[in-house]
Amino acid sequence: MLIETHPPAIQELYSAIRKLKQEKDAVVLAHYYMSPELQLTEKDGGIADFIGDSLGLSVEATKVKAKHIIFCGVKFMAETAKVLNPDKQVLIPDKEAGCSLASSITAEDVLELKRKHPGVPVIAYVNTYAETKAECDICCTSRNALAIARSFDSDTLIFIPDVYMGQNLQQKIEAETGKKLILWHGTCEVHEQFTGLSMEMMKKANPDAEVLLHWEVPKETVATSFCEAKGVLGSTNDILRYVGESHAKKFILASECDLGATLKGMYPDKEFITPCFKCPYMKKITLQNTLATLQAIGTPDAAKYDISIPEEIMHKAYIPIKRMLDFA
Ligand code: 13P
Ligand code: SF4
Repeated sequence: MLIETHPPAIQELYSAIRKLKQEKDAVVLAHYYMSPELQLTEKDGGIADFIGDSLGLSVEATKVKAKHIIFCGVKFMAETAKVLNPDKQVLIPDKEAGCSLASSITAEDVLELKRKHPGVPVIAYVNTYAETKAECDICCTSRNALAIARSFDSDTLIFIPDVYMGQNLQQKIEAETGKKLILWHGTCEVHEQFTGLSMEMMKKANPDAEVLLHWEVPKETVATSFCEAKGVLGSTNDILRYVGESHAKKFILASECDLGATLKGMYPDKEFITPCFKCPYMKKITLQNTLATLQAIGTPDAAKYDISIPEEIMHKAYIPIKRMLDFA
């Protein structure tokens, strides 16, 4: 992993967190977009039990034996863990860890789309809140979106909420199957910053580099990026896998900056170039508030971190999430 020497303050936080995890019977699940110090498993000297993309974390959440799950990611991900583990306490170190995609659409918006397009199946990207998911037919993550969209017989599908990811999917799906996607207008405020112009400039400066693009970048960026360059358009996992399989030594990363740290940790002999756009919501999670969350377990302060979802929403949201997991 990237961090080789840890300043004493970090080591003290690591030790305190590891001790409390044991005492309180808790596990830490962390997303690949966490800051590098949170992207170390216990095995490698850090504090996480599992590090993954949003699908990996959802699957892992179904296997947890501990009583408490500390979710080092954003709120919609912690909600998914809660829906899959209604009897466990799921805690997030900062409830303000939101997502511009998740907040772009409400349950009422989905109902309105369904009234406008009766009978058309609704696929919800997991970057939505539980009450929004509750009104949808199936969820998907960036890793399985294409396969899930392909699996429907219907020639029209509603895909929410990411317009750019929807347009990128649409391009593949329409060419393959003729299916049309009805889209919402949400965007990821991190990935939309990767413009065609910025990719063009980085490619000019690094003509030997391959390009790594997350589904959430605008479709014009995809077109510019692949012009005279090889690479991948896909999920976080697709990007990690692609780098592992490619013979290239240099890559331009169009995704969250700290995924660059993950990649560098996994492939130290390769170079990753990125303008370094960080997700402000992911960065709300720190070692300090992770420790505070553990300290709060079993005290009234736990409410500050506890993910609670009304029972009816939990039941309804479980259906599209389970369908997604069964699909995998
Ligand atoms: P992944 O599904 O690739 O983990 O993406 C999560 C996310 O928030 C992308 O911005
Ligand atoms: Fe949401 Fe974008 Fe942050 Fe992912 S990177 S959590 S999609 S705002």
